[in-house]
Amino acid sequence: MTAVGIDAVEIWTGNLKLDLPGTFAPQKGEDPEKYTKGLGLNASSFPDSYEDIVTMAANAAYRLMDRKGLEPDDIGRIDVATESAFDNSKPVSTYVAGCLEGVFDGDFHHANKGERKFACIAGTQSLDDAYNWIRAGRNRGRAALVIATDTALYARDDAGEATQGAGAVAMLISEDPSLVELSTHQGYGSADETDFLKPNQQFPSVDGKRSVQVYLARMREALMDYESVAGDIHPDDVRFVPFHTPFPGMVRKAGLLGYRYLTRDTAIEEELAEEIGRQPRLEAFDTEDAYHDAVREYTDALKGTDRYREWYAETIDPTLTISREVGNWYTGSVHVARASALKHALETGEDATGETLMVGSYGSGAQAEVHTETVQAGWTEEIGALNVDEQLDSRYDLSWAEYEEVHDVHNHEMDVEVEEFTAPESEFVFDGWGRMGERKYRFVE
Ligand code: CAA
Repeated sequence: MTAVGIDAVEIWTGNLKLDLPGTFAPQKGEDPEKYTKGLGLNASSFPDSYEDIVTMAANAAYRLMDRKGLEPDDIGRIDVATESAFDNSKPVSTYVAGCLEGVFDGDFHHANKGERKFACIAGTQSLDDAYNWIRAGRNRGRAALVIATDTALYARDDAGEATQGAGAVAMLISEDPSLVELSTHQGYGSADETDFLKPNQQFPSVDGKRSVQVYLARMREALMDYESVAGDIHPDDVRFVPFHTPFPGMVRKAGLLGYRYLTRDTAIEEELAEEIGRQPRLEAFDTEDAYHDAVREYTDALKGTDRYREWYAETIDPTLTISREVGNWYTGSVHVARASALKHALETGEDATGETLMVGSYGSGAQAEVHTETVQAGWTEEIGALNVDEQLDSRYDLSWAEYEEVHDVHNHEMDVEVEEFTAPESEFVFDGWGRMGERKYRFVE
């Protein structure tokens, strides 16, 4: 069977940043270490006044197409995943295609365009759609463009305000991919949950503490489901585990869950038993509560073992480097985690070709998905082409007063104008409103 997967990736961050320990924490009267150590975040990316989900998506896609020497005719499908859409009918992908048609020869008139919604998991679902479209033989030799783009803003003073972010990830899905091949097997954990939602409103209604528990519960089910079809995964078989990363502290919890799950009934569990005992088994307890208390106790002990710490440092920590500087990108965040891990491998001179990634996506509402990916021979060239460090370094560092202005500019209920903080260069910008309330864009050389 021909390999299908991600051929290329590009990342586009919002052009502004908010320093969380330096600017946000003092205003909130909080200890900066709540951000750096607790949530695991140094900064959030924000969109400048001329940026939105379309400009970031189009800019990421433009970089990707330009670098790969692609024409619109090479693309048979454009799917945008977002939970920040501003239109209930016209998909963001049409705006993105319109932008790209302004700078490339040809058009996307014979490409299938759509928009995917299921909170943060929609980016991964769009990868599925592209994979299935190619596998079904409907692609006519063309590739799919999948773009995850979000302005993850919360209402002012909501607890989620600490975990905001803005950016886009563009991915090219094709046969014989250069970056990673996607597994056919997948595992799902899905249930009707009310942890985070936006019922016709811009900013989310969130039950933050509950959302953390729902994430872990669905992820555990997805892992079980994955193993039920693909067979047991041993921790030694997996090089990196990129998880959906609303903030790195969440992934600390997901990492512990994953390791506990993967080491169950293995020699690792037996070796660890000398230090912290065996994992609790439900059948040994009279009540579920007693079992959960025992699991919590075991997990706390596991966290302190050298064996777990080493695994975490090798397998999970490298996935968090970019996220620490940008915050939550919702649909893009798990794809940022993959890029971050491979960037680490490149920077440390590792030969990752043939290695396995176990990818854990999550969307509130709620659903988790687990699949594996095999790193392909072209990964060094693809990851080496990312300019994410330059992008992060050139963001404008907002003062508190400027942050308040920027939040207002992007608040759909407010009519505020603010001078831009950065000068756009070789990128698409928002250019005002059209006759029917549509947004207009132009490319700035
Ligand atoms: N030093 C070190 N650590 C500190 C600290 C300090 N001075 N102060 C606090 N901390 C730690 C806390 O102990 C806590 O860590 P643990 O959870 O490991 O105990 C962490 O920092 C956060 O502190 P709080 O729980 O007190 O923070 P909070 O009340 O402000 O809420 C939050 C945190 C619930 C994540 C909130 O930011 C929120 O609601 N975020 C949005 C929802 C979200 O992201 N949920 C994640 C799962 S849902 C999902 O994944 C979908 C999605 O993308 C939104």
